[in-house]
Amino acid sequence: MTGRMGRKPPCPIRSGPIHYPARFSSEMPMGLAERQALMSRKIRIAVIGGDGTGPEVVREGLKVLQAVAKKVGFEYETKDFNVSGDRYLARGGDPKEASIEIISQAEIDELKTFDAIYLGAVGHPDVAPGILEKGLLLRLRFAMDQYINLRPVKLYPNVPCPLKDKGPKDVDFVVVRENTEGIYTGMGGVQYKGTPQEVSTQVNCTTRFGAERAIRYAFELCRKRNNPKGKMLTLVHKCNVLTYVGQTWVNAFHQVAKEYPDIKTDYNHVDACCMWFVKNPEFYDVIVTDNIFGDIITDLGAMIQGGMGVAAGGNINPKGVSMFEPIGGSAPKYTGKNVINPIAAIGALAMLLSETGNNTGNAKLVEAGERVEKAIIATTPRMPSQSAGKMGGTTMDIGDWVVEAVQKG
Ligand code: IPM
Ligand code: MN
Repeated sequence: MTGRMGRKPPCPIRSGPIHYPARFSSEMPMGLAERQALMSRKIRIAVIGGDGTGPEVVREGLKVLQAVAKKVGFEYETKDFNVSGDRYLARGGDPKEASIEIISQAEIDELKTFDAIYLGAVGHPDVAPGILEKGLLLRLRFAMDQYINLRPVKLYPNVPCPLKDKGPKDVDFVVVRENTEGIYTGMGGVQYKGTPQEVSTQVNCTTRFGAERAIRYAFELCRKRNNPKGKMLTLVHKCNVLTYVGQTWVNAFHQVAKEYPDIKTDYNHVDACCMWFVKNPEFYDVIVTDNIFGDIITDLGAMIQGGMGVAAGGNINPKGVSMFEPIGGSAPKYTGKNVINPIAAIGALAMLLSETGNNTGNAKLVEAGERVEKAIIATTPRMPSQSAGKMGGTTMDIGDWVVEAVQKG
């Protein structure tokens, strides 16, 4: 593997075939009969508005869903799940320390019966950081084995980009973030807490199995994207310092790459990747990376695609139940003001439709997803800014504009 611009991959490579059993039974492929049954029945979507502005932006997404379902001709039903920081506090949850469940096992079991989950936002100003994030978002990602966090970084037309001289043709790539491992598992601990001798560890739990399935997903995506500029998958890590876990990623990357000779491969250290996002974002096609690096680089990605109001993501289990969300937070200071940008949530809805359609072979949903994305592209030029309160209309207006574009489209 020769890196772009003559850079050699800095990590020594060992590779060999490793065969693992599927980790979860939810990965059993769907049969043809099951797919056909899905095409003709109502699509069931679980809705978790969540905290802060989450419910407001999800409401706009659901308006768009109604319009596109009518346009394309499919039936759906939604069910609201009241899972939020407010509910946690109302039930007597300790704001400082996780004391009761944020979401119950019974609710998770019910969520697993849906075709997809549509999530607004997680994070409450009166609940200490970590409680809701771990108790809801991470719990769901892990419980549903949503091992991919799919985050397109795409600059839509007329959306202001902070990068000088860069436009929509330069900022258009996808980050595949591993979503169930790394330092997100919570392994580790603290000793001598509160004393000058305090010692804490947070383990980067990386498995070959986890790296490999994320990498394989990314290669498949790269092949499907079929970028006219050339198909290229970039592994992002920090294998010069994280030599153990980094090597697992590099080895898995090289092993899987052999199955995809049509795709060029590259490697960037995560710090260098941040630099390239700003300097030459047009280099990228698909990126695959571990959980924390994916988290960090996609916030930078969100900025170069126009801001948190625009960036959408999907927590994907390709053979199970996936969950789609705007990647920004709950924006407490804008809550209830009808000023927050719903474009990211509407983008998450577009992803929900196309991903669910693709993973279940439902062409109508794929078409619906494409139509919603086109409607977003028709709407952003009407918006002078993508920032809250400066969009040229309210949250509800923007939702209405996208609905209009779906109806016209
Ligand atoms: C995200 C968020 C979450 C993460 C937090 C809320 C746990 O930042 O989805 O990017 O780190 O994954
Ligand atoms: Mn994040």
